[in-house]
Formats: sequence, C-alpha cells, structure tokens
Amino acid sequence: MGVNYVPEPFRIKMVETIKMLSREEREQKIAEAKYNTFNLKGEDVYIDLLTDSGTNAMSQEQWAGVMRGDEAYAGASSYYKLIETAQEIFGYKYIQPVHQGRAAEKVLFGLLMGEGQYSISNMHFDTTRAHVELAGARAIDCVVPEASNPAKRVPFKGNMDVEKLEALINEHGADKIAVVIMTVTNNSAGGQPVSIQNVRETAKICKKYGIRFCIDAARYAENAYFVKQREEGYADKSIKEIVKEMFSYADMFTMSAKKDTIVNMGGLVGIKEDEKLYQACKGRTISFEGFVTYGGLSGRDLESLAIGLHEGLDENYLRYRIGQMEYLAGRLDDAGIAYQSPVGGHGVFVDAKAMFPHIPYYEFPGQALAIELYKEAGIRTCDIGSFMLGNNPDTGKQLKANFEFTRLAIPRRVYTQSHIDVMANALIAIKEKANKVKGYKITWEPPILRHFQAHLAPVEK
Ligand code: F0G
Repeated sequence: MGVNYVPEPFRIKMVETIKMLSREEREQKIAEAKYNTFNLKGEDVYIDLLTDSGTNAMSQEQWAGVMRGDEAYAGASSYYKLIETAQEIFGYKYIQPVHQGRAAEKVLFGLLMGEGQYSISNMHFDTTRAHVELAGARAIDCVVPEASNPAKRVPFKGNMDVEKLEALINEHGADKIAVVIMTVTNNSAGGQPVSIQNVRETAKICKKYGIRFCIDAARYAENAYFVKQREEGYADKSIKEIVKEMFSYADMFTMSAKKDTIVNMGGLVGIKEDEKLYQACKGRTISFEGFVTYGGLSGRDLESLAIGLHEGLDENYLRYRIGQMEYLAGRLDDAGIAYQSPVGGHGVFVDAKAMFPHIPYYEFPGQALAIELYKEAGIRTCDIGSFMLGNNPDTGKQLKANFEFTRLAIPRRVYTQSHIDVMANALIAIKEKANKVKGYKITWEPPILRHFQAHLAPVEK
C-alpha cells in the first residue's frame, strides 16, 4: 500500500504566488466560464494541470542561457549550440528548429504526403492528425488493444500493433502509406510508453515495404526512462544510450520541445541523412517559421532549448518526475479510484466513466470531473473523452469516445508533494459524493475543435 514520494532533486530559488479562491468564488468563476475550464483565467486557478506543455520550470542554467542568447538573424551562436547538442543526442545529421511541435508537423508533413495517402501511427496526437489531413492524407491509429482497457496493467501499453500495421499496409498498398509515426510516449493513450523492441519491429516493417518512419518525440525522455525500468536488457543502459538506440531505428522526427526538453516554447525537426528532404524542409521553414537558423524562435529560446535537451535526460530528474506520477497513482489505488494504469509519464488520466457510472457519455463524465476538481480544490484539468471528441461531421450527432478520461497533466519541476496530495485528496472527496454529481449539456458550440470554446450547463433532472 502506498508509494513513497521521490524527493525533488532541486531546491527552489524563485517562487510564483498562487491564489486560492474560496469555494463560493470558484463556483461563481466556473459558472462564468460556462463550465469550460479553457475559459477560466489562469489567475483563478490554484493548481493548473490543463497541460504539461510549455508550463515547465526552467533551471538556473537555462535562465542564464536566456541572458546569453545570441539574437543574430542569421548564424547565431545559440543556433549552432542547439544543432550540435541535438546531433549528438539523436545521432541525426540534420536538425531544424521551429517554434513548436505542430510547426514541425506543418513543415515536414507537406513534404511527405498528399491526397490518397495515409499516415499510420500508434496514435496521432490531435495536431498531428490535423497536419496529416491538411496535407491531404488520412490518419489511421494502430495502437495495441490493451490500451483501451484502463484496468489492464501491461508495461508498454503505448505500443504499435505491429500485426495490424502490416495488415493495413497490405490492405491499402505500401505506396499509399506515406509515413509511419511512432508517438513516444503515447499521449492519447495516457502517456503510455513504447518498448524499444516495438520501435525495432515497426522499423523492420517500414524497411520491408520501403515506408518512411518518423518519431513524434514530444516525450521521448520519459519513454526512455520507462524502457530502462521495464524492458529486459535495458536496466544497465544510460538514458542517453536508450535514446540513441530508439532514434537509430527511425528516419526522421518531429518534436514539441515544450514537454521533455523543459522549455516554454520550441520544437525541432530531425532528419537522419536524407539531404534532399532537409533542403526542402529549410525552404518551408523560411516560408512558415523564419530563417533557417532561428526557425520562429528567439536566440534566447534556442539557447535554453539546447540546455534543456541535456537536463531532460538526467536520470535523477526522471526518477523524481515519473515518481510524482507513481505517488499520485498509488494514492488513487489506495482509494479505489480507477485511472489509465499503470500510470503514464506526464499525468494521470482518471477514468471518469468508472467514477460516475450514472452519467452517460453524451453528458460528458470527463468534463463533469474536471468541473468538480475546480470546484473542490481550484485544480484545472480537461476532458479527454466524448466532450473533446465532438460530433460526427456528416450527421452532427455526438460521437461516443472509447474512454471518458479527465487528464491531470503535471508540469515539470513545478509542483511539490503537498500539491500532489491536494490532487489526490480532491479526487477522494469527489469520489465520496460521486452519485450526486450531475452531467452537462452543451448550450453553444463552434463548428470545429469545440471543446476549447463550447459553453455548457449542468443537466437538471
Ligand atoms: N505531439 C504530441 C504527442 C503532443 O502531445 C503535442 C502537444 C504535439 C505533438 C504538438 O506540439 O503543442 O508544441 O504544437 N501536446 C500538448 C498536450 C498540447 O497538452 O498534450 P505543440
């Protein structure tokens, strides 16, 4: 019973005051926000778990790097520092900075795919899917079936279903598959890791059929830490060695550096050796992002990104980071609260369907729990379920998601053990009165990506 908290491998030098409103004030704020956590003002939130993206705390080395950043339009020293660091870590010849992950997707995918083609991934993140579609292609998810059973504890729940992958290639024809994308960790499945063996097997299939293999590398360091913990033969390897091996199997990567690279803004495209593709990438970067040597970032961003690449791979840091997730998950286990288990790398995805069996999918259990968490303790989270999924574009009917999760995404190096206890205590308090919690209906919604803006109201029965 219980999991020990791994103490922070840092001390705090600068603090940011956070405000705790009264319950009455919180109830008023969430009603004013039309029961959508995206409409809350950040200052009205006590603990912000909306995302782990760009919400991380930089180190004193990174802040010192901000002061050293070289703001030359072309050929800044911060650019060369970033390129050398990334080449060394990933073993790729070509690295292109861009302003965030979706910019990497925009720059690269337009060169890889077009009408009538497909991208197959263990799971596409929302923006990744959007950029596949914007390039004219279609996205197919191909995750192992265990991923859709929150209670089933298997070590690599984020894996690609390699048998299904090969069947899909044969069904559509290899020439129709523009790219295979491995998302590490698998965010949409709950931050679940992918094994090196699975990366290797996927690469082998890509090679057999002559298909390009891309890594979506947002949370690659957390993935490598899970490999070290769980995969046979990797316990004695360093995180850096595991990362090198993982990337050696792919041809290219896109990266949102706002996650494991512990910065507030940034992204990368990596290309192993295809010079022609790199040249084309540079052209698109200049049009969409900015000149090749800054890619939409300031020199100071390039500098802190280069430093963050190393810090994100520090094993002591990763032990503490994943330890926070395991501690929170342990407290939920003790309280009998279900979540996508075993816990993933960047947050806890609570099974709201299990908590509120009386709320049907079309009354959004994941959103109901997000609202309760704000009312209970000023914690901001979001729905990863039917509310996020939206309507069938042809019929306008509400779609039913495979999961009804509420995601508690934990920013890096930001919150302490007592904050994590606030999260666990809030969930436990909500569970005790779960049968009184009501579902929600939508009172207004925009046509696309509605969950960011929609208005809701409680369902009165
Ligand atoms: N790929 C993955 C796996 C992601 O999780 C994200 C962002 C992106 C690509 C896009 O990167 O935001 O820098 O443009 N995920 C965030 C999240 C937004 O909250 O999960 P971006």
